[in-house]
Amino acid sequence: MQQNRDGFSSRFGVIAAAAGSAIGLGNIWRFPYVLGENGGGAFFLIYLAFIVLLGIPLMLTEMSIGRAGQRNTYGSFRNLAPKSKWYFIGIMGVVGAYMILSFYSAVAGWTLQYLYDAVVNNFANKNSADLVSMYETFTSSSFMPVVWTLVFLFLTGLVVVAGIEKGIEKYTKILMPLLFVIIVVLDIRAVSLDGAEEGLSFLFNPDFSKISSKVVLEALGQAFFSLSLGMGTIITYGSYIDKKEKLFSSAVSVSLADTAIAVLAGVAIFPAVFAFGIEPDSGPGLVFITLPNVFQQMPGGYFFSIIFFFLLVIAALTSSISLLEVIVAYFAEELNMTRAKATMVSFISVGVLGVLCALSFGPMSKVTLFGFTIFQLFDYVASNILLPVGGMLIVFFAGWVWARSRFKQEIIGESKENGLFKIFMFIIKFVAPFAIALVFLNAVGLLKF
Ligand code: PFF
Repeated sequence: MQQNRDGFSSRFGVIAAAAGSAIGLGNIWRFPYVLGENGGGAFFLIYLAFIVLLGIPLMLTEMSIGRAGQRNTYGSFRNLAPKSKWYFIGIMGVVGAYMILSFYSAVAGWTLQYLYDAVVNNFANKNSADLVSMYETFTSSSFMPVVWTLVFLFLTGLVVVAGIEKGIEKYTKILMPLLFVIIVVLDIRAVSLDGAEEGLSFLFNPDFSKISSKVVLEALGQAFFSLSLGMGTIITYGSYIDKKEKLFSSAVSVSLADTAIAVLAGVAIFPAVFAFGIEPDSGPGLVFITLPNVFQQMPGGYFFSIIFFFLLVIAALTSSISLLEVIVAYFAEELNMTRAKATMVSFISVGVLGVLCALSFGPMSKVTLFGFTIFQLFDYVASNILLPVGGMLIVFFAGWVWARSRFKQEIIGESKENGLFKIFMFIIKFVAPFAIALVFLNAVGLLKF
């Protein structure tokens, strides 16, 4: 079905595309709230260790598999390992993409509402308590959150069906650095607030008594979520990468840029959390109740809030298109749909689930499974189960099943194996699969340390 592949822009810059996928709500919304719920500094250190030790190698592996396999994740595994069941990873990825895109669209919908609130100056003269109630009233209502979720998904579908990722790439290159600048401005304001030290210490002073098997699993889940790893997104994108691109430096740059944005977001948020007397473990609303406080305390806050929420919507969009692309590429290439039909089918099916997620804070907050609302269930299962298990299978495949020579070909081409490549292979074969398995089994209680 090779002809179906060109709907998505043919070949495009790997860094811009993968960075667009990686940088998103995961950095600015999820990282601070999950860190706040898991005790702060110790979580942060473990998260960083996972990025370096597991994240970067897995990113490089996914890029290699995609570029060698030349298809969506499912198809790539069928190409690389015919007559085996590894394509199952592709199916897990489609399931993961469904779950993540559903709750992601709901949160992106909140961002759209906050962009609107910023424009009409709704944060003005509100104190911390007012902002909390503003967030709660909005997220628990049954109409606007649903509308915004569907608007956001629709925009995502529009980009994917029009195959205008090339255009998006051009904007990403300008807008992501701008996002970076705005966050740095927020950082400067946040760290100069009265009482900022407490927030910085929460973030950077690890309290090791806070570490538990759950915290470690959450850190792993957040690392993979933030880098878009473990479900084949980067494999799917990898299949569009030009053979001339150097994958190693791309994987490193994308991972570092992504981590930098998360850390800077933490520095913007935690000093303010403490300065304004907000609970660090407030949950998914943390960013939405904290930052409007900061905007009010800075000159030009009105304009900054508009630019910030606008850029956050764009960052969310460049991530959500990568999630939708996983589903659409699978439907188009494996089920022989046209891209337009595949996008339509995905939009409708994800839309239904997205609405359920959007309603999880209001009318459907009592609908729970294992004590989780639908939103929480999708977030937890996708990030802390599907991504780690998917990541483990992918590195296991690359280290033990795939021919080392073909793997090497993608990473260093014809050159002789150097030290760096040998270390990389060691991590992929011996460290990564077992480390992920240990973290996972320990957290679910099948193995106890
Ligand atoms: N990495 C994205 C973010 O941090 O917002 C979210 C995401 C995109 C997760 C794509 C997983 C994925 F496959």
